[in-house]
Amino acid sequence: MTPEGLERLTARHGATERHAYLAVVTDAMLQAPAYSPELVLSERELAHSHEFRFAQKREAFLLGRCAAKQALAVLLNEAVWSTIDIYPGVLGQPLVRHARALGVDVTLSHSNGMALALAYPAQWPMGIDLETVEVAVAATVLAELDASTEEQAWVDSSGLSQAAACAVLWGAREALGKALKTGLNSPLRIFALSGLIQAEPGVWTGGYAHFPRFAWRATQLGARTLSLAFPAGVEFVTWPTL
Ligand SMILES: CC(C)(COP(=O)(O)OP(=O)(O)OC[C@H]1O[C@@H](n2cnc3c(N)ncnc32)[C@H](O)[C@@H]1OP(=O)(O)O)[C@@H](O)C(=O)NCCC(=O)NCCS
Repeated sequence: MTPEGLERLTARHGATERHAYLAVVTDAMLQAPAYSPELVLSERELAHSHEFRFAQKREAFLLGRCAAKQALAVLLNEAVWSTIDIYPGVLGQPLVRHARALGVDVTLSHSNGMALALAYPAQWPMGIDLETVEVAVAATVLAELDASTEEQAWVDSSGLSQAAACAVLWGAREALGKALKTGLNSPLRIFALSGLIQAEPGVWTGGYAHFPRFAWRATQLGARTLSLAFPAGVEFVTWPTL
């Protein structure tokens, strides 16, 4: 289909079908001239990137913007990525500034040298999260999550390692925080997952105990998990195979 690292996801809600674009960029890809900051970042983003004190933060920012611009470029039909500006709202939520940005939204995540972004129709609010599966911190994360009895039972029975299951629990909650535009600035139990099932090999899905109008879907991407939160009732006809 699309260039390397870019996938088109088809989603349906009732009789309405829409496309969203998912892009993945890794730090190794930053060597390519197309990903140079001057070609990717808007003037405002470029100035902002110079304000990072640590190179690692600057690189994570660039990675996220590379993924976001790659995905948005298709929905906005824009070849010049630097004409797209992604600026933070008061809650930190990414907002898109571009002549054709009306009705187009983006959600993004970075983790350990990789960034993911989803450009999607704004009428279907979505949030994405990328988590690295880390055995050493799994128990701490589980305690921090304040996992519900249902979530805990799923961790024990899912067939996933405890670390991978934790990454799904955390990632799907964080994805909801992004879809709601609040982030995770609330007691974490409020984002608890419910109805967790395996949809197909390597893909899990379910709802949210306290947010019945949203659903989530998560998949394993090597040593990471990708989680997506979206309105309940939206069905993905295609799902990333990245
Ligand atoms: C939103 C949040 C969960 C993102 O977490 P993160 O660890 O920075 O992780 P990610 O890399 O996955 O996501 C970063 C992106 O989320 C997006 N984001 C930030 N705030 C957002 C919000 N309110 N709504 C939607 N998206 C948001 C941004 O695009 C950001 O990337 P950018 O700054 O380069 O544009 C986090 O900023 C947050 O809410 N923090 C609240 C405090 C907290 O984390 N509590 C947990 C208890 S330990």
